[in-house]
This record gives sequence, C-alpha cells and structure tokens, in this order.
Amino acid sequence: MEVSNRYITIKTHVDGAPKESHFELKTAALLLSAESGSNDVIVKNLYVSIDPYQINRMKSQSSSQKAISFSVGITPGEIIDAYGVGKVVASGNPRFEKDDLVVGVITWGEYSVVKEGTILNKLDPMGFPQTYHLGVLGFSGLSAYGGFFEVCKPKKGEKVFVSAASGSVGNLDGQYAKLFGCYVVGCAGSKQKVELLKEKLGFDDAFNYKEETDLKSALKRYFPNGIDIYFDNVGAEMQEAAVANMNAFGRVAVCGVISEYTDAGKRAAPEMLDVVYKRITIRGFLAADFMNVFADFISTTSDHLRTGNMQAVEDITPGLENIPSAFIGLFRGDNIGKKIVKIADE
Ligand SMILES: NC(=O)c1ccc[n+]([C@@H]2O[C@H](COP(=O)([O-])OP(=O)(O)OC[C@H]3O[C@@H](n4cnc5c(N)ncnc54)[C@H](OP(=O)(O)O)[C@@H]3O)[C@@H](O)[C@H]2O)c1
Repeated sequence: MEVSNRYITIKTHVDGAPKESHFELKTAALLLSAESGSNDVIVKNLYVSIDPYQINRMKSQSSSQKAISFSVGITPGEIIDAYGVGKVVASGNPRFEKDDLVVGVITWGEYSVVKEGTILNKLDPMGFPQTYHLGVLGFSGLSAYGGFFEVCKPKKGEKVFVSAASGSVGNLDGQYAKLFGCYVVGCAGSKQKVELLKEKLGFDDAFNYKEETDLKSALKRYFPNGIDIYFDNVGAEMQEAAVANMNAFGRVAVCGVISEYTDAGKRAAPEMLDVVYKRITIRGFLAADFMNVFADFISTTSDHLRTGNMQAVEDITPGLENIPSAFIGLFRGDNIGKKIVKIADE
C-alpha cells in the first residue's frame, strides 16, 4: 500500500533561536512495504522525543556535528531523525515482525523507513506507558543516572545544584540525588516549576533564576556552605556562578549548555583560578557513554517508579504539525518535564 507520508523538516539552517518560519510540513509518497532484498523496517510513528540537541544539528555549522553520528548536521528539506516509539508495519529485517512495538531512531514524520545499522529495538513497556521509554526510562533518564552516579560520584550528604531542574533530565537528576541522600536545590524559569520541584519532586529547595539579578549571590544564599556537585544543563552565567560557589574537590557534570545553543555570543567563562585552587573537576558526558550501566539504570529506576519513590514528569502534545512549536518551546521554557509529541494511536 502507498501512503502520503507527512513529515517536518527545516527550510533553512537555524542559527539563533528557532522560529515557526524555519520549519515546514512536507508530504512524500511512501510504500508501506520493505524494498525486496533490503533489511528496511517500515515503522508507523507513535511518539517522538523533542530534544534540545537537535538545534545544534540544524545550524549551518557546529562542532557537535562532527563529534558523533547521532549529532550530524541536518540538511534543509530532508526528513529529520529523532528518538521515538513506533509500530512495525512491514519488515525486511528478520529481527522484526509486523505489529512489533519498537523504540529507536525514527523520524519527525508519520512513518519511518529504518535502515540497517540504525538503532531500533523491540520495546517491552514493562507495564509502563510507552512514553516513559523516551523519558524517565529512556535517554533522559540514562543521562541523569549516568551523569549523577558515574560522573559526579556523589557521597551521601553532599550538596547538589541542578539547573533546568524541572526539565526532562534535570528533574530526574534531582530525584536521584535526593533518593541517594544528598541535599538538592534546583533552579527553573517559573513559579509553577519551582513549586513542582519543592512540593512534588522532593527537592530541598528551588528558585526561579529569572527573578535573580546576581546568580553568584543567589547561589551563596541557597548554599551558604558551598556546592559539592553542579549538574549543568544550562552553561554560561549559571556555570560561572556555580563554579564560584563550589567547595574544594567539587564536580561539575556538564550535561548540556542550552542557554548557549541559540546565542553564539554566550559562553561560560568560569574563574579558572577557582578551578585550580579548589581542584574542581568539570566534565562533559554523553548518555551513550553509559550503556554499560543501562541494565542497572532500568532496574533501579523502574523499582523507584513502582514504589512511587520517583515521579515521571511528561509534557505531551498531540499532532505531528505541532512538532515545530513543541521544539521551539524548549528554548522558551514552555515545557515541564519530558517533551514528547504524539503522532498517532497504535
Ligand atoms: N549529554 C547528554 O547526553 C544529554 C542528553 C539529554 C539532554 N542533554 C542536555 O541536557 C539539557 C536538558 O535537556 P532536556 O532534554 O532535559 O530538556 P528540558 O530541560 O526538558 O527542556 C529545556 C529547558 O531548558 C530551560 N532553558 C531553555 N533555555 C534556557 C536558557 N536560555 N537559560 C536557562 N534555561 C533555559 C527551560 O526551562 P526553564 O523554564 O527552567 O528555563 C526549558 O524548559 C540540555 O542542555 C540538553 O542538551 C544532554
């Protein structure tokens, strides 16, 4: 059967803040059968993950585009790949059969042709909503878990600061840190987000960074005895302020620097004398570094979810055509928790 597959693409490279006018919805005929002799898997897309790193793929150039295969540049007009959940409609690959539920690299479209060598796995929802496998049990969760336990190497009682703390990775990092026995303060961009952190997610304290005129003194107020661990999702001034408030042998785990993605002039310049004299470690990481702890991550996190010790915070918008606004919203702070677009029912 042939369908007309609707998909979202960029019209031009996006350098700066993304706008609706950068995106377009296109349509192309697609045969819902695997080309004979190919290992193609044809997937009906159900949910796609909306992630900040895609902006760096949309730029005319970014050092991230050459770093690793999943961050390669996106060519205007081409279909955009993204992590998601789908259902197999046809398969030339012996690993998959029609109607299998799958999770992996699909597209910002109604259907995906998944080529051999692309990450795609059968999905066992384990009794959880399918969307959890894009957030709390997916790469957001793995980034938070690996970033906190493997990179920060926490000790009980240490003081942890998390930025973009109500976001997909940030809220989970804070929850892991609390469950482990740390003192946790998060910052986020609205009153509603601050309340969520303190009242529902168990953070010891939280503040709205948009109301602070001096981030260094704000952090001094929240951490009078200094910060041991900073989980950085934001970069720039926030990273500088955190480093200025770090204790000796403090660790900064750089998960992402979202405030720098849409502003080429914005860069973190932490006081390097603090880094030297306080022997601070600043280390970046990628979720893919933690595949060796994936099984531990899934069993620990699913136990916490089942016992109610951890909450999954999701922000799901229906409709393929809403992918651009969902994506743009990440850079305006519209989302609370994991941003996902629902494309279709099973
Ligand atoms: N290393 C990895 O493997 C890996 C994996 C996943 C994500 N990441 C990174 O982790 C960070 C969070 O990603 P996520 O998927 O969890 O997204 P998210 O936090 O769910 O969404 C982005 C949030 O960032 C905040 N934000 C946007 N622009 C900002 C700015 N200029 N200054 C301060 N905060 C800003 C907004 O919240 P507020 O309302 O609080 O401003 C927004 O809701 C990103 O930097 C991302 O690139 C890295």
